[in-house]
Amino acid sequence: MTKEVVLSGIRPTGFLHLGNYFGAMRNYVRMQDDYDCYFFVANWHSLTTHPDTKELKTAVRRVVAENIACGVDPGKAAFYVQSDVPEIAELYLYLNMLAYKGELEKTTTFKDKVRTQPDNVNAGLLTYPVLQAADILIHRAVKVPVGKDQEQNMEMARNFAQRFNHRYGEVFPEPYGFNYGEQLVKIMSLDGNGKMSKSENQLSTLYLADEDDLIRKKIMKAKTDQGPEQTNATKPDYIENLFTLMNLVSTTDTVQKFNDDFNNSSLGNCLIRYGDMKKQLAEDMVNFIKPIREKATDLQNNIEQLESIMKQGADKARASASETIKLVRKAVLG
Ligand code: TRP
Repeated sequence: MTKEVVLSGIRPTGFLHLGNYFGAMRNYVRMQDDYDCYFFVANWHSLTTHPDTKELKTAVRRVVAENIACGVDPGKAAFYVQSDVPEIAELYLYLNMLAYKGELEKTTTFKDKVRTQPDNVNAGLLTYPVLQAADILIHRAVKVPVGKDQEQNMEMARNFAQRFNHRYGEVFPEPYGFNYGEQLVKIMSLDGNGKMSKSENQLSTLYLADEDDLIRKKIMKAKTDQGPEQTNATKPDYIENLFTLMNLVSTTDTVQKFNDDFNNSSLGNCLIRYGDMKKQLAEDMVNFIKPIREKATDLQNNIEQLESIMKQGADKARASASETIKLVRKAVLG
């Protein structure tokens, strides 16, 4: 039986963090056994917001190395760099004729960018969802592991696929967002303000490249309070987040102990010691991140191996992409 095609992309704009790990990479690793997987670094997309490309190559390599270090297996999934697959650009061209200026202008990400970078409202930014649709449709993928924030882009990809099929004949299946039917864990920033971020909030975000002492320092500074005032109190968001993190990297016994302490605490009898909890969490987090960081660093220092991984991914992606582009050319051009 042929496996369903899964595809997802990561922009190389900033350092990957714990939220990326639990929201994306951990799922990629689970999916690579069950599906025909394509994962890629969206370096063309990053040009829409980062025209200065001095750091781009290093950033691309870091994303590749970190994904491999997280367990993405280049022997199972195709892991490639977007610009190594020119067929995507050709499909983007055809899809651009099916995308309307009005609908592109209405997307929330475009409107946000118009606000945040008013001096560089380029056409690439406007057609960002078209390029994303080309990324997906070039492998005729049906499942796209992405967060809720990508729903609008997914809907546009389905629309472009439908329009194409309607006008030129059936080539594309419709792709849907997908995450193993589970809610994705939300990893909040350690200061309790919003999510961890690739580029903002750097002292409250745990990056996969952080050294042990920096991890400890960030966790010890995480926001806490005086402790609960009654037994079985509701946890404030920032405390809930420490428990979420602990759940992900500590043993069940450890989580249980601190949870019991929290629930049995009350004003004047506070059993939970957030300092102790953070110390424990810091050590468990160091043990979690360290092997990933070390493996990623080793790979980044071994350019030859890294390039061979990227070539292996590009070859696999181009084999699939060229089959699709043949069908597309035939459908459009005859
Ligand atoms: N827009 C996605 C993001 O910002 C990245 C991306 C580009 C992507 N192309 C894609 C995600 C194709 C899934 C499928 O995270």
